Amino acid sequence: MYSVEELQKIVSEAVALRSKQLLDKKPVELYRPIHYSLEMGGKRLRPVLVLLAYNLFDEEIEKAVPAALAIEVFHNFTLLHDDIMDKADVRRNRPTVHVKFSENHAILSGDAMAFEAYKYLLESSARRLPEAMKLFTDTAIEVCEGQQYDMDFENRPDVKEEEYLNMIRLKTAVLLACSLKSGAILADSPKAAADQLYEFGINLGLAFQLQDDLLDTFGDQETFGKKIGGDILANKKTLLLINALEHANPEQRALLMEWIGKEDFIPEQKIQAVTQIYREIGVKEMAERKVDDYFNRAIRILGELELEDVVKQPLRGLAEKMLTRKN
Ligand code: IPE
Ligand code: IPE
Ligand code: MG
Ligand code: MG
Ligand code: MG
Repeated sequence: MYSVEELQKIVSEAVALRSKQLLDKKPVELYRPIHYSLEMGGKRLRPVLVLLAYNLFDEEIEKAVPAALAIEVFHNFTLLHDDIMDKADVRRNRPTVHVKFSENHAILSGDAMAFEAYKYLLESSARRLPEAMKLFTDTAIEVCEGQQYDMDFENRPDVKEEEYLNMIRLKTAVLLACSLKSGAILADSPKAAADQLYEFGINLGLAFQLQDDLLDTFGDQETFGKKIGGDILANKKTLLLINALEHANPEQRALLMEWIGKEDFIPEQKIQAVTQIYREIGVKEMAERKVDDYFNRAIRILGELELEDVVKQPLRGLAEKMLTRKN
């Protein structure tokens, strides 16, 4: 049985090796941004989840490394395009790919990464690889659906909590769930266990995106690595904004609507004004309670998984670490 730290090391070495290989490829303008994106770091949560899930059923984790890599490369591809869509200039405390190189670089290198991910996945020799390929493909399409809802919602003031939860399930939670289920499938786990891991991942993923939204407003830029207030500037319909609009008094509501509708504004002023209203209404605490709810659901599902507790401990440990994350 591997510890989370051991798996993190395996993942980071595998990513470093692959990204170095890309540096020798031509045209360099296509591969340099990919190398930059993969070398920028990141928490590598998804590949570690693949390996943790695999290791619940099988000890030969090197067999799951290509799939783990595939999901990490796919995740990084989504970030290249997401940062263009969200007009985000900073990620992992470095300029985003479209800022450092250009938008066209981020689009095309991103496309190449999506296919590169498939290439890695195809390296797996697992008997049930077709099943994992289908899950990965369905998941990728769901991520696009989630990203489209995220964009659509920027222009809608009437987004309901339920719609928001569906949007974050699609754009974020399904990839965490897919990571876990892929690991289980490749290790030839029983179907019920793979499905339970998927549900665990969905709940963990919902908590994870809720936290990301909390950190986007209330986090510390240096540790978070992304610009604080980006969601506010883009009128993202986070649970913070949805709850604020729902619980605001008429005066607060009018002010929020005014900021949302403004075309010309000083970014810092908008961030400050909206954050102030959030504080008055107490939406941070409401969202934190939701994070706890989903996290507890995830832990309960993991508890129901018919495996010895000691085997599940690394996965539980990582989930617990994710709950208190600041980056
Ligand atoms: C960022 O994911 C995108 C979201 C789904 C919130 P991570 O927070 O896992 O990003 P890195 O890879 O660690 O930078
Ligand atoms: C991330 O949502 C979802 C995907 C990239 C698919 P965000 O837009 O909140 O992610 P960050 O905050 O830019 O990492
Ligand atoms: Mg973004
Ligand atoms: Mg986004
Ligand atoms: Mg975010």
